[in-house]
Amino acid sequence: MLVNPVKRAYLALESWFNISFGPEWNPLYHLGTLSFFLFWVILVSGIYLFIPFHGSVEGAHASVEYITHEQWYVAGIMRSLHRYASDAVVITVLLHMFKEFASGRYRGFRWFSWVTGVPNLWMVVTLGITGYWLVWDELAQYIAVGSAQLMDALPIFSGAMTRNFVSGGMTDRFFILIEFLHLLGQPLILVFLLWLHVKRLSNVEINPPRGLAMGTFIALLALSLWHPAVSHAPANLDSVPRELRIDWFYLNVYPLLEYWPARQVWMLTTGVTLLLMMLPWLLPKKDGPRAIVDLDHCNGCGICFEDCPFDAISVQARTDGARYEHEVVVDPALCGACGICAGSCPASNPFRTPRGELKTGIDMPQLPAEEMRRLTREAVTTISAEPKIIVFGCEHGLNVKRLDRADTRGIRLICSGMLPPTLVEYALKQGAAGVMVVGCRENDCFYRFGNRWTRMRFAGERKPILRARAERERLLMHGAAEPDLREIEAELEQFRGRLRELERAETGVAQS
Ligand code: HEM
Repeated sequence: MLVNPVKRAYLALESWFNISFGPEWNPLYHLGTLSFFLFWVILVSGIYLFIPFHGSVEGAHASVEYITHEQWYVAGIMRSLHRYASDAVVITVLLHMFKEFASGRYRGFRWFSWVTGVPNLWMVVTLGITGYWLVWDELAQYIAVGSAQLMDALPIFSGAMTRNFVSGGMTDRFFILIEFLHLLGQPLILVFLLWLHVKRLSNVEINPPRGLAMGTFIALLALSLWHPAVSHAPANLDSVPRELRIDWFYLNVYPLLEYWPARQVWMLTTGVTLLLMMLPWLLPKKDGPRAIVDLDHCNGCGICFEDCPFDAISVQARTDGARYEHEVVVDPALCGACGICAGSCPASNPFRTPRGELKTGIDMPQLPAEEMRRLTREAVTTISAEPKIIVFGCEHGLNVKRLDRADTRGIRLICSGMLPPTLVEYALKQGAAGVMVVGCRENDCFYRFGNRWTRMRFAGERKPILRARAERERLLMHGAAEPDLREIEAELEQFRGRLRELERAETGVAQS
């Protein structure tokens, strides 16, 4: 199968990080939560810095110097943590954006998360800009003059900002406005934008694994001790700063002003922003048909509601007069067409109707439960060698059809989470010696929870559970992306060996 070059590059980076950090702590799997963690570091260090900081044109620089040099052992470290965590958040957010793009998680039903992500990026960058402004050193002066140029290019300001600096200089009143923006206004808007950003997702985690958080904090602390953040000379609006150390993470547009008029810089930044926001429609991809509820087979238990990663299912009062109190309703605008709901529906049990058609409470028109059962039965009967192995895989990980051999058949589902645990039992009952489930790479499910829910169902930790009668030794679960074919083949080979040993042991018991 062809993997586009952007995705291939991302998967290679991910593999490299997996080797260095292991899949549990791989930062590329936790970029959103890592960004949240960095915000906590920024918030706590920022609150501490607010105490000794003097919020006036006259006092700001001296107070920051005091923080940096006199109180270097606490306040100075806090300043450096504040600076480096802010830089790190730009890296994690940009990587998060790249990852969502590279893995195709930005279009179709996901357009909302993508589009609401872009203003978050703007808010992070402008928060950094007002932060640098507050130091009121030569770099702040450079930002102030550049920002005035940018603002004046907008019709609503028409020259008022430059007049502020050219005639009256920086006033305390204006400085307090910047302080208010940095300390309260922008953080509050950011919190609102982040809430909006994850609004369409369920079970959103905002904390990274503890080990990854600790490692990140230790790295920031080490950097703060090794290379403390320092200021430039105090701002002086009568002279032009000679040498500046630009923070390219935040201040990259300002040097452009030396070459281009402010209006052109606006055109570039708004153009890039609009382009980013329109990506879901510029490179569109159609989602599959949405999940459909069949009230004749739905008892309103709500397991699918608990499992849906995109908050597309709600539990409502029964409308068909049946004896149950509730029914589930799918919102097609939110549905990701992943099929995880079909895997969670207790009615997707293939043993329910051994002879008749298998109908379930919530199903996917493109791959109904009945078709999954038929494919499983057909696969077991067409395998010609022992030990017979059925491999269930998902559309977004490794194409399990590539594992087909005389003793092995792959069946592709939409997501590994759409596999009802009872179908594993069914495959074994039909004569398969073993069942392997290959979802997306561990911690990187395309539909967020396919791998995780399936593992929990198999472990008996989440409904519907895999019943004890399905021998666990005959079951193997592994995550994989398209480039991981050799790794999966090696796993499969070991699995074959294990199944042969099981057969031998069972034949031995039967003979003795
Ligand atoms: C301040 C910056 C940001 C933070 C803290 C953040 C955080 C998060 C978190 C926690 C999630 C949920 C992940 C999950 O539970 O599966 C998420 C999802 C997402 N983010 Fe961001 N994000 C930020 C900025 C962005 C940006 C700039 C973009 C792209 C323009 C973006 C695109 C997305 C998309 C498309 C999803 C949905 C993923 C899915 O449906 O599986 N985010 N983000």
